[in-house]
Amino acid sequence: FNDSKVASIVIAEEIASLIQAKAEKNEMCVLGLATGSSPIKVYEELVRMHKEEGLSFSNVITFNLDEYFPMEKENIQSYYYFMHQHLFDHVDIDPKHINIPNGMVASKDLNAYCQAYDDKILSSGGLDFQLLGIGRTGHIGFNEPGSHINSGTRSITLDHITRVDAGPAFQGIENVPRKAITMGIGTIKKAKRIVLLAWGQNKAEIVKKAIEGDILSHIPATYLQEHSNTTFVLDNEAATNLI
Ligand code: F6R
Repeated sequence: FNDSKVASIVIAEEIASLIQAKAEKNEMCVLGLATGSSPIKVYEELVRMHKEEGLSFSNVITFNLDEYFPMEKENIQSYYYFMHQHLFDHVDIDPKHINIPNGMVASKDLNAYCQAYDDKILSSGGLDFQLLGIGRTGHIGFNEPGSHINSGTRSITLDHITRVDAGPAFQGIENVPRKAITMGIGTIKKAKRIVLLAWGQNKAEIVKKAIEGDILSHIPATYLQEHSNTTFVLDNEAATNLI
């Protein structure tokens, strides 16, 4: 796309059509959602469709990809806060249908908590649609280099580059948490449809590796090459290096 705004509207329309198609069949629509700068315009358009065109989220269940750990919900840096600010506070989703990894779960309960998160995705019917961004390390969710193709939801140590990139939002890298809880690659790959968004020149190098490079645990986004229904949605700058 020439323009990330136009691209975001196209993806919001795909999500809206899926929600409405499910509603017509009296089915729930299970969405996997991302935070960060990449999906913001998609959420803006979904909120506009709700307010101006009556798009309802009453049949939507959401699972967010990740959350910093430790991180309190009320903290304005939390992904919980981000999702409410950009989407959930402005649409008619039932709060009981919102799932975001809890950044304050006790360390001793972490493994069981993560297993339960994956189980809940499955028992909700699995992810119908997963929205992704991509980090400069090649992470999807917070699956940093070295993540296993079959990994499930778990705690992870953030890569240095990821913490550098998050630094400005935290007023300095020293304030960026060292850990996160993330859906696994295996969790993400079970989604029936995946759309990865990347905008801007600083994503060009990793986008090229993700699409044209060998499949390597070193660059977790390359695992998406083996998924049968994934689309990378790029602006011209993010696509610069592609053959
Ligand atoms: C966020 C997430 C991350 C981001 C990625 C890109 O929930 O899982 O993988 O999508 O770090 O971030 P932005 O969009 O801010 O460039």
